[in-house]
Amino acid sequence: MNFLQLAADRYSVRSFSPKAIPREELEKILRAGQLAPTAVNYQPQKIYVLQSREALATIRALTRFTYDAPVVLLCCADLSKAWHSPAEPGYNTGEMDVSIVCTQMMLEAWELGIGSVWVRGFDAREVAKAFALPEQIRPICLLPIGYPSQDSVPYARWHNSRRPLSETVEER
Ligand SMILES: Cc1cc2nc3c(=O)[nH]c(=O)nc-3n(C[C@H](O)[C@H](O)[C@H](O)COP(=O)(O)O)c2cc1C
Repeated sequence: MNFLQLAADRYSVRSFSPKAIPREELEKILRAGQLAPTAVNYQPQKIYVLQSREALATIRALTRFTYDAPVVLLCCADLSKAWHSPAEPGYNTGEMDVSIVCTQMMLEAWELGIGSVWVRGFDAREVAKAFALPEQIRPICLLPIGYPSQDSVPYARWHNSRRPLSETVEER
């Protein structure tokens, strides 16, 4: 599919079929994330594939935004690996790097007919505690993934609404 068409067609899926994602499709999605650019190529992402009954129950108890997806990717930044700016103390690119990784996984999934929704509606401290994540691993977002259910439709009010380029782009 033409990339602009793929980007236009993709929408946040919030109703999933219980159909399992074949292992090879999941691997393609993870591979798309692996190919993402990251600052200094440090690749600070750490992706937890939540698909056991126990892990899914844990994440579903912490956010209402997993929409019963059969797999949830818990996308984290390893702050011990992220690039830290020498010029701006306290600034690192971990969240940005993981966002690019997550974007590539989201788009690859869509190309495979697998839906997803980017989720930040959770308390990262609670998630880190529930999954006993090491101190340097910071949850950035969740990507619930799965085949869209038959009645899945975009939230038209959001999906069909984009600010005009004249508002978001400025030439100087
Ligand atoms: C950083 C970020 C956080 C988001 N958090 C949530 C969330 O917690 N729950 C949810 O249902 N959707 C969430 N979304 C999805 C957005 O609402 C959605 O992408 C936006 O409304 C555009 O709709 P579309 O993806 O269908 O085109 C999030 C998206 C982004 C990029």
